[in-house]
Amino acid sequence: ATHKLLLLPGDGIGPEVMGEVEKIVRWFDTQGIASFAIERDLVGGAAYDDHGEAISNAAMDRAQAADAVLFGAVGGPKWADVPYRARPEAGLLRLRKDLGLFANIRPAICYPALADASSLKRELVEGLDIVIVRELTGGVYFGEPKEIVTLEDGSQRAVDTQLYTTGEIDRIARVAFDLARKRRNKVSSAEKNNVMKSGVLWKQVVTGVHKADYADVELEHVLADNCAMQLVRRPKQYDVIVTDNLFGDILSDVAAMLTGSLGMLPSASLGAEDPATGARKALYEPVHGSAPDIAGQGLANPIAMIGSFAMALRYSFGLIEAADMLERAVTNALASGLRTRDIAATGANAVGTAEMGDAVLKE
Ligand code: NAI
Ligand code: MG
Repeated sequence: ATHKLLLLPGDGIGPEVMGEVEKIVRWFDTQGIASFAIERDLVGGAAYDDHGEAISNAAMDRAQAADAVLFGAVGGPKWADVPYRARPEAGLLRLRKDLGLFANIRPAICYPALADASSLKRELVEGLDIVIVRELTGGVYFGEPKEIVTLEDGSQRAVDTQLYTTGEIDRIARVAFDLARKRRNKVSSAEKNNVMKSGVLWKQVVTGVHKADYADVELEHVLADNCAMQLVRRPKQYDVIVTDNLFGDILSDVAAMLTGSLGMLPSASLGAEDPATGARKALYEPVHGSAPDIAGQGLANPIAMIGSFAMALRYSFGLIEAADMLERAVTNALASGLRTRDIAATGANAVGTAEMGDAVLKE
């Protein structure tokens, strides 16, 4: 099958790191390992400069038609004063909303060669490979009422509403179980059923989905605060952690610091499954932004972007061996001692974006 891939490089270092992924995509194609139909479009400041909006309707149509979208990064000081509706981030927000990307997936992978850059001791993180599945479109960030009310005595009261429906929990649980089957087959569901009704429902629905359709996957329940503690105590006990929007925000930042640099972290956002084909809308992007401070200098670390493409291979295209091969190539390139500036020791020699990309390609 030919896989339809839409590339949205965006701004700053976005196009630089995307360029390295394009080399790798072409290599897979040339080797006959997989066949890709590639389209490209503008997003963010680049799109605004071209036609006055952060993403065009035509680009949105392409995103809807693609099997996967690869997104670089958007934004930068050049667009500080553009109208609010056309600010670069609006392009990403529209993609998330229109593609219905409710599941945010952030792996925390610790390459042995970089284990000393972690906030934890080497033996705790060396070889770490866990994934946090965060519900992205519900929960306390969106629930109504959401307001600050002035009371009769002049004091104020702030209200946020943690709100989850059975359907929202059911679909994120399925994403987590499906991912676990492509990995080490274990899901840890984090909530606080001891103090929150949403936690009670969360646990109940996840348990039900497990029993009905995923009994082959190991499931454990963990209180979210304990999960945070376990992540910095013994992170390798986890495979897939599934949790709500708020807890996921915090737990994924904790997990990020287990691995070292921002330039190393990939992510995926998945939408609903098409009932006819089983396919999902999906967008893959590095966690980092457009890094205006180093843009245009060929210094950016392309590994987060390359890792995002590896996730697309694994989760959108089902090319598990190709994904393993690419991740192994990154591991080997790092093991050979190559470092971009962001992951090099102070004073040590560093290579540029293209050299790192070429080294991964060679491996
Ligand atoms: P940033 O992630 O762009 O940069 C933070 C620091 O990390 C900088 O010193 C940068 O040089 C470094 N860095 C980031 N990625 C790197 C890489 N691949 N290789 C080497 N070093 C890297 O975050 P910042 O500075 O807060 O935001 C810069 C711009 O990016 C802003 O306009 C912001 O709105 C935007 N942004 C966009 C995101 C997106 O497109 N999803 C996410 C975060 C920020
Ligand atoms: Mg956060």
